[in-house]
Amino acid sequence: MVAPARTSFPKSEISVLLLENIHASADELFGAAGEGWKIERASAALREGELIERIRDVHVLGIRSKTRVTPAVLNEARRLLAIGAFCIGTNQIACGAAAHAGVPVFNAPYSNTRSVAELVLAEIVFLARQLGDRIREVHGGRWRKVSAGCHEVRGKTLGIIGYGHIGTQVGVLAEAFGMRVLYFDIATKLAVGNVRPVPDLRALLASSDFVTLHVPETPQTQGMIGAAELAAMRPGAHLLNASRGTVVDVEALAAALRAGHLAGAAVDVFPEEPEGASDDFQSPLRGLGNVILTPHIGGSTEEAQENIGREVATSLTKFVNTGATTGAVNFPEIEMPSIPGTHRILNIHKNVPGVLRDINRIVSDLGANIRAQHLATDADIGYLVMDLDHDVSDDVKNAVAALPTNVRTRILY
Ligand code: NAI
Repeated sequence: MVAPARTSFPKSEISVLLLENIHASADELFGAAGEGWKIERASAALREGELIERIRDVHVLGIRSKTRVTPAVLNEARRLLAIGAFCIGTNQIACGAAAHAGVPVFNAPYSNTRSVAELVLAEIVFLARQLGDRIREVHGGRWRKVSAGCHEVRGKTLGIIGYGHIGTQVGVLAEAFGMRVLYFDIATKLAVGNVRPVPDLRALLASSDFVTLHVPETPQTQGMIGAAELAAMRPGAHLLNASRGTVVDVEALAAALRAGHLAGAAVDVFPEEPEGASDDFQSPLRGLGNVILTPHIGGSTEEAQENIGREVATSLTKFVNTGATTGAVNFPEIEMPSIPGTHRILNIHKNVPGVLRDINRIVSDLGANIRAQHLATDADIGYLVMDLDHDVSDDVKNAVAALPTNVRTRILY
């Protein structure tokens, strides 16, 4: 849903710069939510110097993974309201410096969930039927009909480690294939369908014919599957990793495959991945039988790109039009319903003691009638959204903006 538009200045003055061929679904959203926004596009990433030149009049910046938004860029971005990372990661953006400048950063971490889940299901069938090997053989002119060691997946047990967005979708699809599905997660999760939780990792490893990893990269998940865990898996089982490369010890995995303890593996992510297409890929898993290796393409589909365009553009328009920061990676999150007939003040301030006291004093001195107020803070900044009656809203906004703790203040009429 596109947020109802309010304005802090004429719509035609909002300037959007979209780099790196962001999907056209973003423009549709900007068109619907911010008719009149001036959208400029560039197909390539911009280098720091070029971006500094272009950023000065930009209110909304959209990038993908290649444009670096450095503190130097942010220094020049006097008008910038928000940044959209039309991708999953936000390492290319100086998110802390952006927060200090009062600029939230939005991304779309779950737009490719289904793409990953579908790939995993396809790989389970591929592994069960040794399809990678058969395809390679036939392409090489060898006609080797094999049924030994090849299985249906119906009735087999799939163990999901990390039952989050992707893990849950994998479970739904696997049940549709007639698999029995177990999961292990450190958080309590609502099981969908007939999927069942197991109390610990060892229980999952010992009970599964296929084990698939869908955990984030954290200190606890680094190396979570090593030689001991692989040994705890059923003989003839399969391991799938489309989460993060550091979660699995690939040397130990290669050893378990070579020893014949595991019957196959599908790996999409690696501890070290080449920077680009011209770089060599090295891995102890290369050349092993019934091992599917893919170049981190779990989430790479046109549908995911389209979802990313739509989701990030939605977050950006909602922030510009209502101040909502839900899903921002570097900002306290607030999404407050609009009260018709009020003006809304959005104030970003340094999170030091006494700010709310100062703001409340302004409100009380000016006799403003506050209809709704929400404050959220993190270690460095505070974000205050305040709906108030029309009469003195401009005076309140100006007085709040003049406080020494002010980072940015906007008013939406
Ligand atoms: P999510 O945050 O929705 O789910 C992760 C789940 O793992 C959560 O339920 C969490 O409680 C659980 N978890 C965290 N630490 C755990 C631990 N030590 N043991 C057991 N469970 C644990 O994340 P989502 O979207 O499902 O993504 C999962 C992974 O997939 C991430 O690592 C992400 O980077 C990766 N990914 C890979 C893609 C690819 O192209 N191959 C594309 C998209 C995501």
